[in-house]
Amino acid sequence: MAVVYPRKFQSSLGAMSARDILGQVVRDREIHHITLNRYRFSEQRSCKDLTDLIEQLNGQPAALVRDLSRHISDEARHAMWLTDLLTDLGADVGTPPGSSYIEEFERLLDQEQNSPDNVDDFVINSLAAINVTEKRGCEYFSAHIYALQQAPQTEENVKIRETIEKILPEEAGHVRWGNRMLAQWADKSPEYREKVNQAKQKYAAIEQAAFECGMDITLGAELRRVGNLLDIANTMPLWQRPQYLAERLPHAFLAPDLQRTRIAIAQRAWSRDPQAFVEKFIPLFLGGLNRNTPAEKAKL
Ligand SMILES: [Fe+2]
Ligand SMILES: [Fe+2]
Repeated sequence: MAVVYPRKFQSSLGAMSARDILGQVVRDREIHHITLNRYRFSEQRSCKDLTDLIEQLNGQPAALVRDLSRHISDEARHAMWLTDLLTDLGADVGTPPGSSYIEEFERLLDQEQNSPDNVDDFVINSLAAINVTEKRGCEYFSAHIYALQQAPQTEENVKIRETIEKILPEEAGHVRWGNRMLAQWADKSPEYREKVNQAKQKYAAIEQAAFECGMDITLGAELRRVGNLLDIANTMPLWQRPQYLAERLPHAFLAPDLQRTRIAIAQRAWSRDPQAFVEKFIPLFLGGLNRNTPAEKAKL
């Protein structure tokens, strides 16, 4: 049976893995806290979504309702651990700024096809949707742990790592549960195998699109603008470049068509420390841009 894993972030800069992204995230305390708060929000929201699912199932199949109620209990505990962690760190536990991965995912869901009128299709679709987001969670949490193992072992970093290390094995359990359930449905008949495969493909595609829209804060449309600015700056003497970029980068980032998430983060980073913004954000982009051939660059 087809096994669908979340793909890496694909952009004109090439694939950026969760490890690449988290390696950058843990270097900036504010972005680190925002990322943790996004985890918290997702865990908390999944309690609500899984409760909705139980209500829609309305008691059938009972075994699935039982599994889901346990699942909600796990997710509630994860939200609690992350909320405890964030409040201990004095970090924000408000609704994260901008569009979120989870909202984008919901927006992209095909509500009509996912109506509970056909219970089997509804259950298969729901399981496939849960499964692919749980896989993404595992990928991120394990990359986050890896990044924190490489980072300075401050009291705060150790605390964050210990919290994520408590959550990850339970998320892996959720993935195994989803795999098992989907395999059981697929074993019913060739027709069901096809249904399951289609649901897996569909939700993997939806998840990937949601992820690319809402999750990654280091790449996106602004990159192309920044790329153009860097091209111009590269024609100037070295000493003139920081000034040129410092004057124009905010505009490149704050263009209205760009996502609010990244804008909020860029704005904050900028207002906090323009010098660090240039020094820390720009290398993120330069690393990717330098890998492109002139022909690829022309396409940006
Ligand atoms: Fe969780
Ligand atoms: Fe989970």
